[in-house]
Amino acid sequence: MMSNLVYLNGEYMPLQQACVPVLDRGFMFGDGVYEVMPVYSGFPFAVSQHMARLQRSLDAIQISNPLSNAQWDEIFSRLIDQNYPGQDCAVYLQVTRGVMEKRDHVFRHDLQPTVLVMTQAAHYPSQSRDTQGIRVITQEDTRWQECHIKSINLLPNALLKQYAVEHDAEETILIRDGLAIEGSASNLFIVKDDLIRTPPVQRCMLGGITREVILGLCQQHKVVAREIDITEDELHDADEIWLTSSTREISPVTTLNQHKVGNGEVGPKWHQVIELYQDYKQQVMRGGNDTV
Ligand code: PDD
Repeated sequence: MMSNLVYLNGEYMPLQQACVPVLDRGFMFGDGVYEVMPVYSGFPFAVSQHMARLQRSLDAIQISNPLSNAQWDEIFSRLIDQNYPGQDCAVYLQVTRGVMEKRDHVFRHDLQPTVLVMTQAAHYPSQSRDTQGIRVITQEDTRWQECHIKSINLLPNALLKQYAVEHDAEETILIRDGLAIEGSASNLFIVKDDLIRTPPVQRCMLGGITREVILGLCQQHKVVAREIDITEDELHDADEIWLTSSTREISPVTTLNQHKVGNGEVGPKWHQVIELYQDYKQQVMRGGNDTV
């Protein structure tokens, strides 16, 4: 079998050989940021938006971007061409602050960041449009205040998602101060009386790229969508609920805390918006502009 090639600190190597020192601040403190980008038929999707968010995350934790956008692009292409030529997959990249000589909470500004890029198999479920819908549950949001940073510190997210999986659900919707914020690894949309709503970008939520693309498409196609807070009661009263991310695209939710969402079927607005999303993907794959 062909080896899975990864990029680590300027070199390409098989995944099994990629190692970082134990004093890497990513390992010691979760001191780093990451991105996950979908790749359709060998074409990375929404690259400029992902690179802009990477820059915002790096700025927020005071790491300077170790590579130019052209260098990032070159790495993505080489790994995709080697590991998943012309196929669907996902690109994962991670930048940590680098390695210190001893464990110390205080960091220096002259460290060489650790850069890892790898590809992973991905199956984009909404490519088959007859999706059944998923089951989700709610939990109090136990994460920190700075969830707009795409930090590799994902222990609360992992615990919250694990809770869902161990309670016959696929995702957990997080509630903070009575408001539904997002999923443990996804953004939240609801539909009520034909109006699409999603919480506005805020410090305690990750501004998802899939969310951004959907809002752009809605605006372009004159489908009304509002960025407005969603209370826990409104979540329970929604006609439709969707969760969005680079790896799941737009998942319709048909069960919330063991109760049906709306009539328990995947709703008409989801069908309308997934159509726009799929058409846009095709357009990007044909080499069109990838910014909505
Ligand atoms: N997670 N909110 C959180 C907390 C997330 O972790 C993610 C994505 C999103 C959606 O963002 P985007 O549309 O840019 O993928 C929202 C990725 C997929 C992950 O951690 O694997």
